[in-house]
Amino acid sequence: MSSAAPLELPDEAPTWDGVRLRPYRTRDVPMLRDLATDPYVPLIGTLPARATEDEALAYIQRQHDRLLTGTGYSFAVTLEESDEAVGGAGLWLGGVEHGRASAGYSIAPQFRGHGLGGRALIALTTFAWTLPEIHRVELFIEPWNAASIRTALKAGYSREGLLRSHQEIGGTRVDMELFAALRAGD
Ligand SMILES: CC(C)(COP(=O)(O)OP(=O)(O)OC[C@H]1O[C@@H](n2cnc3c(N)ncnc32)[C@H](O)[C@@H]1OP(=O)(O)O)[C@@H](O)C(=O)NCCC(=O)NCCS
Repeated sequence: MSSAAPLELPDEAPTWDGVRLRPYRTRDVPMLRDLATDPYVPLIGTLPARATEDEALAYIQRQHDRLLTGTGYSFAVTLEESDEAVGGAGLWLGGVEHGRASAGYSIAPQFRGHGLGGRALIALTTFAWTLPEIHRVELFIEPWNAASIRTALKAGYSREGLLRSHQEIGGTRVDMELFAALRAGD
């Protein structure tokens, strides 16, 4: 947990092609409970598997706390037209002292298959470039995760290489493909 200064949300919510990123709200609980049925999502974040309503509410509170602790920006991914939440996207600032951030994203199962993850990632990355200290945004993606790799490529990220035995996920050490986007002109 970072003890950096509290972060402020952008004045204008990041948007891209019909997708808008905003703070989580209580009404996003049903979407989070749908997301929590995905077997992989609980392994890569703090949303419990098959989350109850209370667990989803506690998750929302933790996302708000990320700003207060300076850990990063955790947004709900929403449809711009209806404000309906369809997933989550986070920009994490561990490493920001070196000009680096990392990003993560998930789309709830019922909303997949429409390229929403890629649009959310473009909105998030465009927002990252409004923060002058960030020069590089990194993604860590397991090699089997074709939908996430395709999402990264569509959002303009480049594959940089395979990080072997990079971390433990679900009790097993796994390799990660490293993708990154650089600030224009760097
Ligand atoms: C990754 C994720 C956000 C993508 O969701 P999405 O935006 O609905 O993705 P889509 O289904 O629209 O697929 C995006 C692209 O991947 C392709 N794709 C999807 N599944 C694929 C598969 N199994 N094999 C190959 N390509 C695949 C799609 O065809 C699409 O490409 P296209 O736009 O060129 O047609 C979603 O799958 C998810 O939330 N996964 C669980 C959490 C996760 O893995 N997050 C990323 C951690 S690094």
